[in-house]
Amino acid sequence: ELQAVIFDLDGVITDTAEHHYLAWKAIGDELKLPFTREFNEKLKGVSRLESLRLLLSLSPTELQYSEQQLHELAERKNELYKQLISQIKPSDVLPGIPELIADLKQRGIKTAIASASKNAFAVIRNLQMEQQFDVIVDAATIKNSKPDPEVFLAAAQQLGVEPKACVGIEDAVAGVEAIIAADMTAIAIGKQEHFPHAHHTYASTAELNAEQLIDIHRKVIS
Ligand code: BG6
Ligand code: MG
Repeated sequence: ELQAVIFDLDGVITDTAEHHYLAWKAIGDELKLPFTREFNEKLKGVSRLESLRLLLSLSPTELQYSEQQLHELAERKNELYKQLISQIKPSDVLPGIPELIADLKQRGIKTAIASASKNAFAVIRNLQMEQQFDVIVDAATIKNSKPDPEVFLAAAQQLGVEPKACVGIEDAVAGVEAIIAADMTAIAIGKQEHFPHAHHTYASTAELNAEQLIDIHRKVIS
């Protein structure tokens, strides 16, 4: 029986996946790297430093960056990102999410956030959604980032729910892998071809609904 739904934050609750992309794109342009939206799929769900490594792997020459330079680039990206998210307001929640959360609550199904971002609390605060989730786990307390299951397992543990009784919702390839590695039911948001391992993929959060999540979960665990 489905007992909890664990949401990724960036790109699932609100469109901060776009803000991360725009901030990395600015750094990529500056370094004249051929950074595309398709390549950006690999960065989704991945930690800040790992994202930077992926971005720099686009460099045709084997440029060597010092630890100091890497740190500065990551810091600059984060400053750009923080500027973008400072504008986030409650109406920026993605379509279907408020209705889904309300419906889950009514059915007694718990909700949590499992985010790889160190800015997760700032985003949730600007959305004024702090009270909407039973548990919020962000990058601050996690050692291994997605695709490692740690953040999803930590959320389930804090909820007091077995992983098998959880559905995870993600817009990132690394995130879907993390959900599956956690032995949970994996729901992807985005293009089907990006998520061959998800148990179900929706094109948009607007299509999410509690009844279907319960059905999909039942089929996965049976
Ligand atoms: C994830 C995003 O939620 O958080 C990634 O999908 C991002 O794109 C990662 O790199 C880390 O975020 P932050 O805010 O700690 O740089
Ligand atoms: Mg995401």
